[in-house]
Amino acid sequence: MSNHSSLQDRYGRKINYLRLSVTDRCDFRCAYCMAEKMQFLPRDEILSLEECLFIAKVFVALGVDKIRLSGGEPLVRKDFPWLVARMRKLDGLRELVLSSNGSQLVQFAVPLKLAGVDRINISLDSLNPDVFHRLTRTGNLHQVLAGIDAAITVFGSTSIKMNTVMLHDSNHAELPAMLEFALARKIDISFIELMPMGETGHHYATSFYSSADALAQLRQHHTLIPSVETSGGPARYWRIAGHESRIGFISPHSQNFCADCNRMRVTARGELFPCLGNEGMVDLLPAVRAGDEAGVRDLILQAVADKPEAHEFDLSQPGTHIMRFMSRTGG
Ligand code: 5AD
Ligand code: SF4
Repeated sequence: MSNHSSLQDRYGRKINYLRLSVTDRCDFRCAYCMAEKMQFLPRDEILSLEECLFIAKVFVALGVDKIRLSGGEPLVRKDFPWLVARMRKLDGLRELVLSSNGSQLVQFAVPLKLAGVDRINISLDSLNPDVFHRLTRTGNLHQVLAGIDAAITVFGSTSIKMNTVMLHDSNHAELPAMLEFALARKIDISFIELMPMGETGHHYATSFYSSADALAQLRQHHTLIPSVETSGGPARYWRIAGHESRIGFISPHSQNFCADCNRMRVTARGELFPCLGNEGMVDLLPAVRAGDEAGVRDLILQAVADKPEAHEFDLSQPGTHIMRFMSRTGG
């Protein structure tokens, strides 16, 4: 993997990947991600699109060459394609990618492609309309399925990936069907272990379903061959002979991937989190609002220096939940 970033932490890890949340809002209310009644950030505390661009510019100047735009749901942000088009022009940015729940991709696939999005990860946790509705509280499965197909048509199947959070007693029985769905569309799929985030009211320990259990289950249907491929992220990949899809497992609990971590996260209110699984944060907002480029750069360097060695997720210790909504940190 090429990595020319000048950002290096004290464990020798190079940071070349920024995940930037452009909104904490979402049209869904997934039970493991949000509380039923969410208190969203006041509008004046949210980064403007210009401020998002400013932050991206400073990171790219420091050597970050991949940016993922996330949320909440990035497509609920007004004028989002405007931001993509500006960001795409940053010199040194190799990849500009997106995470989306798919609900608005029927309308947005073409404008996003034209604006310069390279790839899209689409979350999908169930193919059963009732289960899907229960999980997302507000989501409409058919709209998302149409969004996935629109994205595949516009971007091509190799640029679309499905992300499925594994949930015991909720979607675990349909994981083989979800794999078939991805195989039929020639898209990659990653199965994600549930991470305990506080404040949602969701009972994480009982709904946890492990990558090992899912793998054993999928192996009753297919011969999965381990692959040495990496997408520069935490997923471990498998392949099935005769199929183009890669099957990834993201297993924060059973496999610690922190040693290869190359990323940092910025929330929609300008908080820089060096690690998803730790509380430590550096507030960029005042320096961003002051237009202080050198100040923002120094804060980023400080956060890189303070990047924790590993996440602190622990399902067995309810007190060690990360007390933060995923919709704030951007997944
Ligand atoms: N554990 C694992 N994945 C989560 N996501 C949101 N909350 C959690 C959690 N607690 C996922 C979404 C989406 C991505 C942005 O993050 O389902 O796939
Ligand atoms: Fe929205 Fe994604 Fe959170 Fe679901 S998991 S509420 S789609 S941000």
